[in-house]
Amino acid sequence: MQMTEVYDPFDPAFQADPYPAYAWLREHDPVHHHAGTSIAPSFWALTRFDDVWDAVRRPEDFSSASGLTFYRDEIGQLGLAPTIVMLDPPIQTQLRGLIGRGFTPKRIAALEGDIRRFARERLAEVAEKAAAGEIVDLHQDYSTTIPTYVLASLLGVPAADRARFDPWVSTLTALQESGFSSAALAGAEAVTEMFEYFAALIQDRREHPTDDLVGALVNAEVDGQRLSDWDILGFCFVMVAGGNDTTGSLISHSVMLLGADPDQRSLLLEDPSLIGNAAMECLRLESSVQALARTTTRDVTVAGTTIPKGEKVLMLFGSANRDEKEFGATADRLDVRRLIPRQLGFSSGPHFCVGNHLARLQATVALQELLAAQPQIGVDLTAAQRHQSAFTRGWITLPATGVQ
Ligand code: HEM
Repeated sequence: MQMTEVYDPFDPAFQADPYPAYAWLREHDPVHHHAGTSIAPSFWALTRFDDVWDAVRRPEDFSSASGLTFYRDEIGQLGLAPTIVMLDPPIQTQLRGLIGRGFTPKRIAALEGDIRRFARERLAEVAEKAAAGEIVDLHQDYSTTIPTYVLASLLGVPAADRARFDPWVSTLTALQESGFSSAALAGAEAVTEMFEYFAALIQDRREHPTDDLVGALVNAEVDGQRLSDWDILGFCFVMVAGGNDTTGSLISHSVMLLGADPDQRSLLLEDPSLIGNAAMECLRLESSVQALARTTTRDVTVAGTTIPKGEKVLMLFGSANRDEKEFGATADRLDVRRLIPRQLGFSSGPHFCVGNHLARLQATVALQELLAAQPQIGVDLTAAQRHQSAFTRGWITLPATGVQ
């Protein structure tokens, strides 16, 4: 059997465990050409760490401006100006500088106490649920609640509007299964409602300056340049679409990996200061963003194979992050003490995740509190259900075990 036939990112069986196919591709076909399907034309896939690392850092050859999936129409019909993640330098660089003015390490660090308090409240509910004999869904009852709460607070969504915010997030999470195709987005009322809501919020912040992130973005200025309403709206969209389920999945995957490896879990229980590094190790092993595309701007040769101009090329972060050439013979194994000077869980280069500090803080606090309250927690994979997505790796439901 040709393993290349097994590499089918649309196949739920592949999505359930993509790692054997990735390993085969890295070894035998590192610059893989996929013939495509009726819903997605042909594309290429880079699977080795060095090749992906190099490509994402060369936006002049591997552009983001034609979208991040292998669907070809994803930008045109969105009805939204391209967001930061779908722009190339130099425009993207300018936007990023402005966004950095609002998204400061200080603003992120200030959230820690609030995240911890919120996590403890959720854990009290989790314990009550278990005491009442109900099944605890780790993903829905705990992991995803944290990023949704944090993002709503960060964006300055008032508590009274929180009930509206949650369905927008779940709609966007569900839409990721379509790779955010324009048709799916256009059909989603929740998305239109979210845009309208944020447009009004931005307008309000222009009239009444505030200290929250949207208030800071409205006032951000670099070399006399300011962000337009569209820029801020696009940024809110990328944060809600890209910062929620990714973070929730990281927390859930970390519990899954620790549950399967009691020795590694013991290390964290003995020394909780390792938890921050452990979260990054879990992101490496189970990358929430498995793959995103670029489009070649000219004929480009990678590892001896020439990819013609105008082709979609998938950056398989999930494969690169398990490359033995980068991470050694134990690349497939959890090692909470591993030194990780670089990885691709947050990409690299100009689009390196703006929210990486926030994601790491949330995962660290969520795991610290969880392990302190529920040291024996694990997951029941037989009753779990994954999202079907060629691009992200996450859960719909993940029942917990060992909750007291
Ligand atoms: C574990 C959680 C997260 C993961 C795995 C993740 C992953 C990523 C990846 C892979 C990219 C790069 C896209 C590319 O190369 O084309 C990215 C970009 C981005 N992320 Fe995250 N992200 C996470 C959390 C967050 C959070 C919490 C936020 C904000 C609240 C956020 C905001 C963004 C933004 C705005 C970009 C676009 C940056 C740009 O294009 O310059 N992310 N993220």
